[in-house]
Amino acid sequence: MSVTRRYREAWEAFWRAAPVERGAVFWDAEPALTAALHLALFEPHLVAEELPLVDLGCGNGTQSRFLAGTFPRVVGLDLSAAAIDRARRADPAGDVEFRQFDAVQEGAAGLLHAELGDANLYMRGVLHQCEPAARQPLADAIATLTGERGRAFVVEPSEAARPVLLALAGGPGGPPPKLAPVFAHGLTPADVVDDAVPRHFAAAGLTVLASGELPLFTTESAPDGSRVELPSRWFAVGRTAN
Ligand SMILES: C[S@@+](CC[C@H](N)C(=O)[O-])C[C@H]1O[C@@H](n2cnc3c(N)ncnc32)[C@H](O)[C@@H]1O
Repeated sequence: MSVTRRYREAWEAFWRAAPVERGAVFWDAEPALTAALHLALFEPHLVAEELPLVDLGCGNGTQSRFLAGTFPRVVGLDLSAAAIDRARRADPAGDVEFRQFDAVQEGAAGLLHAELGDANLYMRGVLHQCEPAARQPLADAIATLTGERGRAFVVEPSEAARPVLLALAGGPGGPPPKLAPVFAHGLTPADVVDDAVPRHFAAAGLTVLASGELPLFTTESAPDGSRVELPSRWFAVGRTAN
């Protein structure tokens, strides 16, 4: 399979239209509040830190660039050519290898695994908005890319994030400015029920080594001026429990 044309075009249009300024995209919070916290949770579960790190669904690469400070080789992958173009422009030193890549395209993960070997993997905020038919293939791609020795850290808004988003969108002034484009481009955040996530991992042959809850910091402010946070769940997964 691969993603549908509608889904691909929704992401291309989103990234083409997104403002380039730092923090202008709803979920694009600074790494100190995102990948840095995740790394502390992920590191105890890594068995081979020397492996390449794949940032799957890297968007504009903010978190990938941070991760390049820890991992020897970071490969940022995204479906959207416009996102990859932004990610490359924001990384003039070329610390990260950014590539356009549809993770659910038949055979794509296998080809990349043949090139990279087992990889560690970071994925933030991709599964929760995938089309239903792409969810299991996405988990399968994680299993293929991590192989025997790689481990993955996956962090996704939980189903409790959906009412938070809908309440924000339905406020008197309509959705706040950074959230509005998400809905305007037909993206469907927080659409996956919590129980489904570990089931997708299990069906992919992945063991959940650890999991927990964390707020997912956004760049948007609530009407009272506080930062909007979404309930989210994280998972460290791998082929074995060793
Ligand atoms: C909500 S954004 C998160 C971006 C980034 N992980 C972050 O935390 O800033 C989701 C990203 O996943 C990408 N994406 C969605 N489906 C994908 C797929 N099948 N393969 C690769 N990337 C995908 C989208 O293009 C989008 O940039």
